[in-house]
Amino acid sequence: MKYRQLGAGGPSVSELGLGCMGMSAFYGERDDTRSAETLLRALDLGITHFDTSYMYGWGHNEELISRSLGARRDEFVFATKFAHRMAADGSRYVDSSGAWAIESCDAALRRTGFDHLDLFYMHRRNPGTPIEETVQAMASLVEQGKIRLIGLSEVSPATLRKAHAVHPIAAVQMEYSLFTRDVEDEMLSTCRELGVALVAYSPVGRGLLTGKVNVNELSKDDFRRVLPRFTGDNLDHNEALVAALTQVAAEIGCTPAQAALAWVLAQGDDILPIPGTKRVTYLEENTAAAGITLTSAHLLALETAVPAAAVAGTRYTAEGMLTTGH
Ligand SMILES: NC(=O)c1ccc[n+]([C@@H]2O[C@H](COP(=O)([O-])OP(=O)(O)OC[C@H]3O[C@@H](n4cnc5c(N)ncnc54)[C@H](OP(=O)(O)O)[C@@H]3O)[C@@H](O)[C@H]2O)c1
Repeated sequence: MKYRQLGAGGPSVSELGLGCMGMSAFYGERDDTRSAETLLRALDLGITHFDTSYMYGWGHNEELISRSLGARRDEFVFATKFAHRMAADGSRYVDSSGAWAIESCDAALRRTGFDHLDLFYMHRRNPGTPIEETVQAMASLVEQGKIRLIGLSEVSPATLRKAHAVHPIAAVQMEYSLFTRDVEDEMLSTCRELGVALVAYSPVGRGLLTGKVNVNELSKDDFRRVLPRFTGDNLDHNEALVAALTQVAAEIGCTPAQAALAWVLAQGDDILPIPGTKRVTYLEENTAAAGITLTSAHLLALETAVPAAAVAGTRYTAEGMLTTGH
């Protein structure tokens, strides 16, 4: 495993992190025993960056990481997020107020038993709350030693600039993969100008880019069943792109998941992909991608096989898209 810096002045972390969301929410059943094995194996493979959020099982995912890895707390960067809340009727809403940031941090510290959070993100922004208010509250958490670094997720470049003027932002977390390249428009250059790391989420397209997801076999409540990219004609179209990717990966001598991850890693050493999996087998396959060096001919072949503009369907449902880009 190689290591990269988490933002200007930030700690060094493994170039591939582990996204832990699916262990607790959105992608089918939980299996805490298997997830704990995967978490420990990740640490043993040299992964030192674990990504979670309060919203991933309303605390379940944070607790799972703490239970599984807590005894080795000084070996990894624990990154969690706040902003989502559950209403009395069970629906979800976004609260990025300073008060909720502080309450959420204290609750995450209580749940995990950790004495600090290494990286604390605003998961989504409520456009009704000025970003300055949120970042001032997060900065007070840094001053108190409760968090080390501040992150933002799914914000606009303008919001990042305003936030960074209040307190240095270490990382912005955005979806980035062969399927989703919007960050290349303006976000990536803004991050580079400000010395902010780009943490790339869903780097294997929520599983689609691995060629191994069969939507008909996903459990009934799997969140991907309603995502535009995973439904109807869009799915057929996108699976044809994955077939082309699989062919290029075979020519490179790796799996499509590995090619997709090596492609993200090749976009710059300030980019930190956090592929998610609950299984040791996939984890080991993904980790091996860190050892693959793609030539410029490989990169071109991958981008030709999967032209980002050719991907059918938005990343989220219309309702989900409304929470992004603020
Ligand atoms: N900031 C945000 O708004 C946001 C949004 C989404 C995700 N995230 C973070 O980013 C992390 C990663 O994103 P993600 O989990 O959505 O998407 P992803 O990493 O692109 O894909 C995860 C899915 O792919 C499957 N998979 C992974 N490696 C595989 C392999 N080698 N072969 C076959 N299948 C494989 C996993 O299967 P299994 O689950 O069956 O192992 C899982 O279903 C999350 O865990 C979370 O921490 C952040």
